[in-house]
Amino acid sequence: MKILGIETSCDETGIAIYDTEQGLIADQLFSQIDLHAQYGGVFPEIASRDHIKKTVPLIKQACLQAKISLQELDGIAYTAGPGLIGALLVGSSIGCSLAWALDLPSVEVHHMEGHLLAPLLDDEKPDFPFVCLLVSGGHSLLVDVKALGDYSILGDTLDDAAGEAFDKTAKLLGLGYPGGKVLSELATQGDKTRFKFPRPMLNRPGLDFSFSGLKTAVRVTYLHEIEKDTYDEKIHQEQLVKDIAASFQEAIVDTLAKKCQRAIKQTGYKTLVIAGGVSANKELRQRLKQLENTLGINFFCPAFKYCTDNGAMIAFAGAMRLQKEQKHNKKIRAYPRWSLEKLKV
Ligand code: KG4
Ligand code: ZN
Repeated sequence: MKILGIETSCDETGIAIYDTEQGLIADQLFSQIDLHAQYGGVFPEIASRDHIKKTVPLIKQACLQAKISLQELDGIAYTAGPGLIGALLVGSSIGCSLAWALDLPSVEVHHMEGHLLAPLLDDEKPDFPFVCLLVSGGHSLLVDVKALGDYSILGDTLDDAAGEAFDKTAKLLGLGYPGGKVLSELATQGDKTRFKFPRPMLNRPGLDFSFSGLKTAVRVTYLHEIEKDTYDEKIHQEQLVKDIAASFQEAIVDTLAKKCQRAIKQTGYKTLVIAGGVSANKELRQRLKQLENTLGINFFCPAFKYCTDNGAMIAFAGAMRLQKEQKHNKKIRAYPRWSLEKLKV
């Protein structure tokens, strides 16, 4: 079964074809980051317009890469939510239109389910059930993953998502948008012990997150430090930014790792998985890997290119769902807000 996956929920147009026998046979991505950078964040109207320009050419490109025609496809999967309404509607309109024209089944994929299943694209993959730390630009969730489509939220963010905290802090430090990756690269040259930032909500029971206080603590420290005479020289300012980046990252990683530890103890599961854009963070991956020994569990993370938004995870999630014969009535719909817990198979 060959499934075309269409991802247009935010600022990446991702198109891929997943074959249930051969695996991934095409994978195309266009990132709009350069288009949005000048606005310091995603500009929704520009995002939708660019998805309109890129989606069909990338579908053609994917067919060329897989050396198949559209007629050889067996189904169409597209991200129907959560995300930006205009951007989502591009993917669902094109996905549904193709399904009508080719008389194929189509399936609405939940973007976060796509992320959650991305580690299963690997040869070495986790078995159900597992705990998944889903950390992206819009979400920070700890999920009890019992089976495909059977998800319970163990912990959620009360305010900023982890990726959002990385991006806002990076912006404050003048690192551009989206700054998570740049911040984590600078952090490797910084002293993570120089500033002791708060570890939000660790002193309370439960698995929820809150990162807005941490972001404020960074702001206060940065503004306070920068006023000192010591920073007259550029080199000292650069070191300050690196040390703040490292100390901030340490606070987030520490908080996420401790919550994962709690979630594993609470569920009694033996497998921990991370996914979503922030799962590309090397420090976080290393810290969670260490839990394998500490807790006697197995840890899985997606390949770097499948951490951030991509079409492969949508094609894969769609294939898993279509294999279970999920019927779809081919209505063009988009859900800007959509809980993972509402999903069924
Ligand atoms: O999953 P994703 O591509 O989009 C959403 O679904 O939101 O995640 C994007 C987020 C951004 O906030 C970005 O800064 C963050 O993932 N991110 C990182 C790293 N790479 C991407 N955060 C920390 N360290 C990284 N290496
Ligand atoms: Zn995403």
